[in-house]
Amino acid sequence: MAHCTRPSVNTHYIGRRHYHSNGDPPRILITGSLGQLGTGLARLLREKYGIENVIMSDIVKPTKDIVKSGPYVFGDILDFKCLQEIVVTYRIDWLVHFSALLSAIGEQNVPLAIRVNIEGLHNVMELSKQYNLRVFVPSTIGAFGPDSPRNPTPNITIQRPRTIYGVSKVHGELLGEYYHHKFGLDFRCLRFPGVISSDTQPGGGTTDYAVQIFHDAIEGKDFECYLKPTTRLPMMYIDDCLRSLWEMLVAPEESLRRRTYNVTAMSFSPEEIVSAVRKHFPNLSVSYKPDSRQYIADTWPEVFDDSEARQDWGWRHQYNLEAMCQIMFDNLHRQHQLEATVAR
Ligand SMILES: NC(=O)c1ccc[n+]([C@@H]2O[C@H](COP(=O)([O-])OP(=O)(O)OC[C@H]3O[C@@H](n4cnc5c(N)ncnc54)[C@H](O)[C@@H]3O)[C@@H](O)[C@H]2O)c1
Repeated sequence: MAHCTRPSVNTHYIGRRHYHSNGDPPRILITGSLGQLGTGLARLLREKYGIENVIMSDIVKPTKDIVKSGPYVFGDILDFKCLQEIVVTYRIDWLVHFSALLSAIGEQNVPLAIRVNIEGLHNVMELSKQYNLRVFVPSTIGAFGPDSPRNPTPNITIQRPRTIYGVSKVHGELLGEYYHHKFGLDFRCLRFPGVISSDTQPGGGTTDYAVQIFHDAIEGKDFECYLKPTTRLPMMYIDDCLRSLWEMLVAPEESLRRRTYNVTAMSFSPEEIVSAVRKHFPNLSVSYKPDSRQYIADTWPEVFDDSEARQDWGWRHQYNLEAMCQIMFDNLHRQHQLEATVAR
């Protein structure tokens, strides 16, 4: 492994404290950027720091729109040299590490989940240490398990997850905190709940049903839910999720009592989201057919306590269940109209 180091970044300590001292914005790499969260995060960060300063990467062939939207490179998280080349070539300052196999997919291919979620993370940590990067790694409600208090689940409590996804995320939290204490790595981590978005499909998690219901409702399909009607889980609309990520990224060092925080916006069960969706689509037909994802959901938090994030760096959510349903249907209506116009 090559040992390349670069001088630490001086930042303004008044106002735009996350900019370089010469006024240049940070240059940011997003791994796994073609998943549910990456495209929206790239858009948000490009609005703040400029298109050329945010590099998207993934192992997936991008659409033309992605290529037109700004820099996109092949980046395999399992290939240290490949990541090293990107960091050097693009003079990266911050790294947002999104590559992962999510909970349900991970259970279907445990060896691959170990490689991507654990070995991939090791590469990211080592790279971030060598090049003095600020690194953001998302964790999840899946980092808790049946021994954790579920309602509410505090920031610090027992974590004994039962999925390889959860195990790899606890490992990520602990390793990041260790690198912070041992080497001064600027590691930042948020535990996200289920994230709901309209422009990209979810990536095989246990909370995907809460996205699928909107698509089925608007397309006039019957909605079959793989969880029981009363299974309550914490959730968040994507705009809140990405804003919390950015706020954590730029939070002043001295406001962070911890390197890992719970964040959330709401908690609901399938029967509750069904009645919220039926206010827009009263005829939506719903059936329940619990599958293996029910076992995962039964071990996860029902209500997430994010009071420490609210206290320490001022986290506030904007979207509750009602507001989220409204914006999801507004967005999906617009997308369907656009597709119909293009097809004509
Ligand atoms: N979406 C959610 O509800 C949610 C909730 C909590 C935490 N998270 C975390 O946020 C992050 C992003 O989630 P997402 O929903 O966008 O995931 P996703 O599954 O939609 O996307 C993950 C991306 O990782 C890429 N990837 C897989 N193997 C790779 C490899 N070897 N090298 C590089 N990239 C590779 C995939 O191609 C994919 O585009 C993940 O770490 C996830 O654990 C997501």
